[in-house]
Amino acid sequence: MEFEEIIRTRRSIRQYEDREVSDDDILKILKAGMQAPGSRLGAEPWEFVVVKDKETLAKLGEIKPRVTDAPVAIVLVANIERAFYKTVWQQDMGAAAENMLLEAVNLGLGGLWNGVAPEEERMAKIGEIIGIDDITETKPYCIITIGYPAEGWENKFMDKFDEERIHYEKY
Ligand SMILES: Cc1cc2nc3c(=O)[nH]c(=O)nc-3n(C[C@H](O)[C@H](O)[C@H](O)COP(=O)(O)O)c2cc1C
Repeated sequence: MEFEEIIRTRRSIRQYEDREVSDDDILKILKAGMQAPGSRLGAEPWEFVVVKDKETLAKLGEIKPRVTDAPVAIVLVANIERAFYKTVWQQDMGAAAENMLLEAVNLGLGGLWNGVAPEEERMAKIGEIIGIDDITETKPYCIITIGYPAEGWENKFMDKFDEERIHYEKY
């Protein structure tokens, strides 16, 4: 798919077909995540937990409801011990998340950013489900759900451009 089409048509896809996403596509999405800009090359905080197990998806869904019926969810986890610049992990993780959503569109899939950080209670609950018992250094950031868009949920262009938000030279 052309880059312009990918970036223009990406939408938040909240319902998916009951159809598996291939491991090959999941790997491509993970690679796109790790291709993102980071605050220090080689010292990015990102790690990823791929969840396909229906019971685990349902548990995550108790906290983030849109996760329940997704064929696959990827929990983005910031491992602060890996990071060189330890205070900007949310920016590092956000760059990875967006890259992953765009790669999903490129592959004919759809995705949703399910926010987790910075609410610590939510981060702790998600962490517990995926095997993190202390979020001091290992922080669940968001959950990206991926799948084939259900009917009526296809990626399509919705114009979000707003000229009034652009300032030239000075604010
Ligand atoms: C930080 C962040 C957190 C989000 N959390 C959720 C969420 O918990 N649940 C949800 O349905 N959508 C979530 N979204 C998706 C937004 O609602 C969505 O991007 C926005 O409505 C714009 O729609 P679009 O993605 O189709 O352009 C989140 C997006 C971001 C960037």
